[in-house]
Amino acid sequence: LLSAPPTVLAEKYFSMYPEEADPFWQNPCEDPRHREIWFKNKTCDRLPRFLVIGPQKTGTTALYSFLSMHPAITSNAWSPETFEEVQFFSGNNYYKGLDWYMQFFPPPVPGTNISQNYLFEKSASYFDKERVPMRAHALLPKSKLICILISPVKRAYSWYQHMRAHNDSTALRYSFYEVVTAKDDAPKALRDQRNRCLVPGMYAQHIDRWLQYYNVNQLLILDGELLKTNPVIIMHKVQRFLHIEPYFDYSMHLRYDSKKGFYCQVVNGDHTKCLGRSKGRKYPPMDSESEKFLQQYYKRHNVALSKMLHRLGLETPSWLEEDLRNFE
Ligand code: A3P
Repeated sequence: LLSAPPTVLAEKYFSMYPEEADPFWQNPCEDPRHREIWFKNKTCDRLPRFLVIGPQKTGTTALYSFLSMHPAITSNAWSPETFEEVQFFSGNNYYKGLDWYMQFFPPPVPGTNISQNYLFEKSASYFDKERVPMRAHALLPKSKLICILISPVKRAYSWYQHMRAHNDSTALRYSFYEVVTAKDDAPKALRDQRNRCLVPGMYAQHIDRWLQYYNVNQLLILDGELLKTNPVIIMHKVQRFLHIEPYFDYSMHLRYDSKKGFYCQVVNGDHTKCLGRSKGRKYPPMDSESEKFLQQYYKRHNVALSKMLHRLGLETPSWLEEDLRNFE
C-alpha cells in the first residue's frame, strides 16, 4: 500500500477527478458525518431562510429595505465589496467558503427562538446565473425564494441607464438602440453589453432553471410595478408567503414621497427616508424605435412566461398582460 503527504494525495485525486475540484457547499448539519467534524462552537443557524434573487433593476433594493424594517426579519450585513449584496452563489465569492458566507448573518442569540428570526439575503445577480439554483439548493434546500419582475423592456432600459450613471464606457459610447440591436459581428464590448442588458429579461427560462431545483411553493413572484405604486399590498403578500409573525402593518411605515416620486420609509413621525439617488433615477423616456424592437424581441419570452404562470397556477402581473396586448 502506497501513500503520500495529504497535498500530494489531493493533487493526484483532483488530476484523476478534475470535476470534483469545484467545491459544492452543503449544510454541514444535515449530514451526520459532516456534523461530527463541524466545530462545536459553530452553528448552522447563520444561514438565510429566504433569498431575494433579483433580477437587477426591478426594485430589489426597495424590497430589501422594506423587508429590513420588519421586526422579525434580519438582512445580510453590508459588504464593502458588493454593498448590500453578498453575491455568494453567483461568482468567485463562492470559493471563499461557507464560513465567509455565514459571517454575513448574525449568530443566534442564546435563549431566543431562532424560528422567529427570518434571516435573508438579496443578491440581484442570482436570478439569471446558470449555476446559482443548483448551488443555492445544495446549501439551502428549504429556503424560500422571492423574485420581482417588471416589463423586461423597461428593465433593459433601466439597466442601460444604470451603466451610464456608472460611467461605463460602452454605455456612454453607444445609444440604447445600438446596444439592444447589436449584431453578433459587433465589437465584443458591445455584444457583452447587449447580452448583459437583454438576457436577464428572458424571465421564463431563468425561472424554469430555479424550478428544476426548488418546488413552486417555495417561490414567490412579485409584480415590481405594484411595488412602486402600492408597496403595502406587496409587503402583505410577502408576509403571508413567509408565514411570518408578528404581522407588520406597512401602511403605518411607508408613505409616498412626491419629491422622490416613490414610497419611502416613515421616520420620526412625519419625515420620510427614501432610497438614494441611484434608485428611482431621472432619465429621458425610451425612444419608440427601441421600445418597438424590444417588445418584439421579448414577445416569445413573455408568451412563455404567461404560459408558465398559467400552468403553475400563479397570477399574471398586469405589466405582462399589457406587454402581450401590444402584440395581439
Ligand atoms: P430606476 O432607477 O431605473 O427608476 P434595483 O434596486 O433592483 O436595482 O431596482 C431599481 C429600481 O427600483 C428603480 O429603477 C426604481 O424604478 C425601482 N423602485 C421601486 N420601488 C422604489 C422605491 N420605493 N424607491 C426607489 N426606487 C424604487
